[in-house]
Amino acid sequence: MVQMTTPTVVTLGLAGGQGKSTVALMLGRYLGRLGIPVLFIDADPQSSLTSFLGVKVEKNTPTLLEVITQNEDQTPILNTIMPVPDVESDSASAHAGLRISVSNANLFVIPSDDGLENANYKLASSGLSLFLLRNRIASIINNFGVVIVDPPPERSHLAQTSLGAGDKWIIPAEANVKGVQSLIRTLSLVREFQSTLPTSSLLGVTPFRARWVGSNPTKATRSSIDTMEQLVGSDLMLPHILESDVFKNAINLRVSPTDLGQPGLEYSIEIIAEKIAPSLPQQYAKLIPQRQEIK
Ligand SMILES: Nc1ncnc2c1ncn2[C@@H]1O[C@H](COP(=O)(O)OP(=O)(O)OP(=O)(O)O)[C@@H](O)[C@H]1O
Ligand SMILES: [Mg+2]
Repeated sequence: MVQMTTPTVVTLGLAGGQGKSTVALMLGRYLGRLGIPVLFIDADPQSSLTSFLGVKVEKNTPTLLEVITQNEDQTPILNTIMPVPDVESDSASAHAGLRISVSNANLFVIPSDDGLENANYKLASSGLSLFLLRNRIASIINNFGVVIVDPPPERSHLAQTSLGAGDKWIIPAEANVKGVQSLIRTLSLVREFQSTLPTSSLLGVTPFRARWVGSNPTKATRSSIDTMEQLVGSDLMLPHILESDVFKNAINLRVSPTDLGQPGLEYSIEIIAEKIAPSLPQQYAKLIPQRQEIK
């Protein structure tokens, strides 16, 4: 029997607000709910993912900065992994009058704060930035079912080391003109490094904040999704994420749309999970429901 090693999923996008952190977060939460241990890596100095997860970084908390700038003897990578706190009904009810209690027992994160920006200097001088993160996490990834990296939006060394750590790349792109432009730039980054990373591949493109009126997409949504499909081909088009305040509320409340009674909004996340399932170690792959994709 072939023992699969833990895959690393990276959400890529060379523009702000394309849904990188949202897809990373919701995919990890979904897999965690199924019983799969997930390690998030927040590779963005804006540290949205760290705050979306409700993780507090204190002054002396070791973060991804230490992982990148120090070696294993100086900062053992295990010391940088933090558990994601559970969501208690009280903190949730304070926002929305809802009583929700969510266990995050399967979720872990190597957090970041704005000091992570300094990692770019070390990466620039190392000459090995493409492989540094991949090499640094190699000794611990098999403690998890999947690793999910959330990179920054610009073409920085941090974005490059995130790309290089990835086995499966997902490009979320807003369903508008800016999203199409971000997709074009991100595809050129992926193509530039693909031959250096022959075992990594693009899983697909997720149109983000797609607008629907009744049963029809708006003109802008339809034309941008059509253009995305022309760019990558229909096989790499993943289902869109709808524009919805439920997602924003879920992020603020540190839960998922499913916890707010809207599991249908997570369809695109379920399909991503289904597509990565074959790369997961078998005991975790079988926890992911497989459905017939409706084309
Ligand atoms: N389905 C949705 N509908 C509307 N807004 C959403 C939805 N999902 C997430 N958002 C909001 O969209 C914003 C941008 O999303 P996100 O932070 O995931 O993008 P990003 O690509 O990670 O951005 P950055 O490049 O700044 O890191 C967030 O503020 C989030 O609250
Ligand atoms: Mg982000």
